[in-house]
Amino acid sequence: MALLTQAIRGTGDVLPNDSHRWQFVENTMLETARLFGFREIRTPVFEHTELFVRSVGDTTDVVQKEMYTFDDNGGRSITLRPEGTAGAVRAFLEHGLHNEALPQKVSYVTSCYRYEKPQAGRLREFHQFGVECFGAAEPQADAEIISLAAAAFEALGIKNLSLEINSIGCPECRAKFYDALREYFGSNQGELCETCKGRLERNPMRILDCKSPVCKKIAEGAPTVLDYICDDCRDHFEKTKSYLTAMGIEYTVNPTIVRGLDYYTRTVFEFVSGDLGAQSTVCGGGRYDGLVEQMGGPKTPALGFAVGLERLLMIMDAQKCEFPETKPCDVYIAPMGEKAATMASKLAKMLRAEGFFAETDIVGRGLKAQMKYANKIGAKYTVVLGDDEIAAGKANLKCMETGEQTEVSLPDGLISAVYDLSINASLGQLTDALDNFDFKL
Ligand code: HAM
Repeated sequence: MALLTQAIRGTGDVLPNDSHRWQFVENTMLETARLFGFREIRTPVFEHTELFVRSVGDTTDVVQKEMYTFDDNGGRSITLRPEGTAGAVRAFLEHGLHNEALPQKVSYVTSCYRYEKPQAGRLREFHQFGVECFGAAEPQADAEIISLAAAAFEALGIKNLSLEINSIGCPECRAKFYDALREYFGSNQGELCETCKGRLERNPMRILDCKSPVCKKIAEGAPTVLDYICDDCRDHFEKTKSYLTAMGIEYTVNPTIVRGLDYYTRTVFEFVSGDLGAQSTVCGGGRYDGLVEQMGGPKTPALGFAVGLERLLMIMDAQKCEFPETKPCDVYIAPMGEKAATMASKLAKMLRAEGFFAETDIVGRGLKAQMKYANKIGAKYTVVLGDDEIAAGKANLKCMETGEQTEVSLPDGLISAVYDLSINASLGQLTDALDNFDFKL
């Protein structure tokens, strides 16, 4: 039975008491991106396996160990997306967005799937907010993307994230770096894990990202990429840093960041948090100037990042960040008898059409139980409807907080009374806010 009542390991539910936090995070991030000119893109949850193998790279942990891959009934190999960039690139090419005004800037909130060992902050189904920018080669773009991530964190009230940046060069300068890595790891070859032994020839940079403790230890003494990047890449990196400094964005250069996906070129970056434990990276991204072309499109420089939303919420909890309150029920209409029930449904419909949150009985409860329910859901006002009220065409609108009652005619008087009361309440809140506002600017 446990199979029926337990979610699969590494997955989770967002329950109604919690969903407003997710909505706040997602809306704030999408809205921040909108202010930078990014518009939302939605791509399928599954794609051809080949798309991820070719873009993420067949020597990465993601492709070698972590993909949810299966054959569908038509015998095609399908993979649940392990990340959002590959699908965005595919859509960019499929729909000819490269023929539209560049840069094309897209944002997304998606679920991703990786068969990883679940632990705090590491799940098998997780969620990302991400952005991708196509057709921008200049270092201003790198700085702007990073400043977008920083602005989104600030809008959410998150503090104390450190930004770590690095440059991993272009394919030309990386060839020399690979030679140096092959020489270094070649002398330790016997101790490397089996996967890394296979990576040594084909993609030695991946060894730097291996999770095995032995490979990690060996990697500590490995050559660092910054010592090998060419003049153009160095210039790009220097300019990116100076734009960041000009925008007041603090960073440290961490020459060990290589990222776990193969498509990156030049700038790579991560935002890390001390509030997360072992999985300390909340956001990762960088430039991928070769990927669009590699997927069969025109040469198109591109860059982006993704934020892990579960990790982001963990940080927000640890930092006790504030979330906006959810709006409670405005009016609960408690009918007694069938005639009243019909009238209650009509009134609820009218209130909802005016944008109010209205509920009425749909389970056949008696009056006492209905009032208990109205209390439980935190209804601001209640109206009891019986035969007398219907005959008189009048009812009492009761404020649940003060117990104060207002007689209203049915139906119009009720709607306008709820209107007036809600306007007064909003005015009250505004006055309170102004009273507490510090005008010494
Ligand atoms: P990534 O570093 O693989 O990059 O993932 C981005 C973020 O997703 C991580 O920093 C982390 O917060 C979160 N994340 C990754 N794996 C898990 C997991 N198993 N459980 C929970 N959270 C996780 C990418 O995915 C790139 N597509 C980012 C990018 C976009 N680069 C350019 N454009």
